[in-house]
Amino acid sequence: MTSHDDVLPHLHTIRDLIRWGASRMSEAGLHFGHGTDNAIDEAAALVLHALHLPPDLHAEYFQSRLTPPEKQAALRLLERRIVERKPAAYLTRRAWFMGLPFYVDERVLVPRSPLAELIERHFAPWLPDSRVVGDILDLGTGSGCIGIACAYAFPDARVDLADISADALEVARRNVAEHGLEDQVEVIQSDLFSALKGRRYDLIISNPPYVGLKELDTLPAEYRHEPRLGLAAGAEGLDVVVEILRQAADYLKRDGLLIVEVGNAQYALCEAFPDIPFTWLEFERGGQGVFLLNTAQLRQWRE
Ligand SMILES: C[S@@+](CC[C@H](N)C(=O)[O-])C[C@H]1O[C@@H](n2cnc3c(N)ncnc32)[C@H](O)[C@@H]1O
Repeated sequence: MTSHDDVLPHLHTIRDLIRWGASRMSEAGLHFGHGTDNAIDEAAALVLHALHLPPDLHAEYFQSRLTPPEKQAALRLLERRIVERKPAAYLTRRAWFMGLPFYVDERVLVPRSPLAELIERHFAPWLPDSRVVGDILDLGTGSGCIGIACAYAFPDARVDLADISADALEVARRNVAEHGLEDQVEVIQSDLFSALKGRRYDLIISNPPYVGLKELDTLPAEYRHEPRLGLAAGAEGLDVVVEILRQAADYLKRDGLLIVEVGNAQYALCEAFPDIPFTWLEFERGGQGVFLLNTAQLRQWRE
């Protein structure tokens, strides 16, 4: 990167800084996909954070002129994004999921699951309006984003957030507290269902690790800042999801639903289990590789 002294006299407004940052990030060949999908949005997230401004700042303020210390602060953050290849969310310690703010750091994956769209529409049409949802499990909760979003969508439901990682659960606990949901949401350390014996859920929702070994090596540098435990799942990426398929029926109520994101592992999963009647869900805002099964289908397959 050029020294700040060279560029400072040419950058005056918030808009200037975002445009310049986006150009430098594109030039450096960064990968986007951890909360934003393009250089402009990524630069905006960093610049607005450095200026202590909200991420949805009204466009009229983008022409505001900045003081030299403000410009320096924004440039320092943009430079870290380029040099360290860390996703912006790890630099700002903030991510957004279903429009809700979450604290994040390197102990958890950056929230980005397409499941947000499904939660936002209360799982319609898969869950009838009349259905009382009493108990929800977010398995492999990481930051807690999926389960916490479910708690907002179903204020009368009890939600369990489970993860094998004690580090991740510290982040999840912090998010539960920041959202004031301690009375509705329980945080449980569990290797899959091992600590959930006797519990039954209307809905088990999971974004487990599903990256195969070969794919793991090809991921852009940004992914190397994420916990490997959140990504890696054996040779084909199926190790965790197969165990979920084997056990989920024992933890679902009679009319329960299992919804799991497996991304690109969808193809290996269909090939390995041609007898499972997966329903693959579609998303308006992008994303794929999410299946749904009900309790009866899971039991039938197992038997
Ligand atoms: C892909 S990350 C998803 C995190 C979060 N749900 C999200 O969507 O951002 C998968 C999570 O599963 C957790 N995990 C991995 N193996 C697990 C296991 N055997 N039992 C429970 N959680 C596990 C990881 O620690 C990680 O937090």
